[in-house]
Amino acid sequence: MYTVAVVGATGAVGREMLRVLEQRSFPTARLVPLASSRSAGQTVCCAGCDLLVRELTPQSFEGVQVALFSAGGSVSKEYAPIAAAAGAWVVDNTSAFRMEPDVPLVVPEVNPQALEGDLLRRRIIANPNCSTIQMVVALEPIRRAAGLRRIVVSTYQAVGGAGMKAMEELRLQAQAFARGEPLPAPRVFPHPILFDCLPHIGSFTESGYSVEEEKMVNETRKIFGEPDLRVSATTVRVPVMVGHSEAVNVELERPLSAKEARRLLAGAAGVEVVDEPAAARYPLARDCAGTDPVYVGRIREDPSVPHGLDLWVVSDNLRKGAALNAVQIAELLAARGLV
Ligand code: A2P
Repeated sequence: MYTVAVVGATGAVGREMLRVLEQRSFPTARLVPLASSRSAGQTVCCAGCDLLVRELTPQSFEGVQVALFSAGGSVSKEYAPIAAAAGAWVVDNTSAFRMEPDVPLVVPEVNPQALEGDLLRRRIIANPNCSTIQMVVALEPIRRAAGLRRIVVSTYQAVGGAGMKAMEELRLQAQAFARGEPLPAPRVFPHPILFDCLPHIGSFTESGYSVEEEKMVNETRKIFGEPDLRVSATTVRVPVMVGHSEAVNVELERPLSAKEARRLLAGAAGVEVVDEPAAARYPLARDCAGTDPVYVGRIREDPSVPHGLDLWVVSDNLRKGAALNAVQIAELLAARGLV
């Protein structure tokens, strides 16, 4: 049984981490919820108990064996090394360490082998970006069977990915609309999110892509171990509370029929196929929120390129895209006797 700290325990992902630890019966002797001084003294609920939230300090990790971080990149940069030095294994949900060559970036269904050898020296494991996780889980069985030549992905990302304040922003805009009032000025997003799609997640880089789009490219290459894989992403925020959707187009090295892809995906770990479009059955964020799988539907051959396939991929961004994947990594560390 382990002492487990959750850094950012009052946030959207942190609260989900507490739920996932409980639901998966992660062997927890003591749970330490940590957040900023703003939340110190509040309680969070886990396994039917109210736990006191404590302020994160350098002393927070004494006796902690597993520390799950989701309190933003700057908090992770400062405190993850402190936690690791205190003897904890850190699973970090931020982008702070993902692209560092000596930090494994892990999706257990795809590259569990990354949790081995020299890469473990820092005791920091990075959890990939939510949009990347669900895409690589859906593509891995296809990649193994037919090889990937190029990926073009467009995302439809829920506001929950931007945290509790972003969910509140959408809620307040919806309530104002329902009352016939003007929408309150946006604070989290650059424009009102209600009734619109914002092709703007993270800041923009000199390349013209956003940081979120670059994460999808770079993290996908690292997880697949294919540094030259051609990937192009357009990431879009949509007025959905929880659950990211993605239109994924792939060009494969070898032919693979839609039927065969459907069969491979149906047998793949962590994937559920929902693909009866004539009966209006395809993955929807509404249905996937609160569940674990990566759902794949609208599987079809793309005749505009050699060996092309199109997929519609939906998953709960707070669960498989964040909290669940992080807890699965902790489970792998425990199963390998590392913790
Ligand atoms: P707090 O609630 O005290 O601000 P979200 O992504 O949903 O916005 O949640 C962010 C999480 O990160 C919250 O739990 C938040 O705590 C926590 N957090 C933000 N800044 C800090 C900080 N400087 N130190 C510790 N926790 C922080």
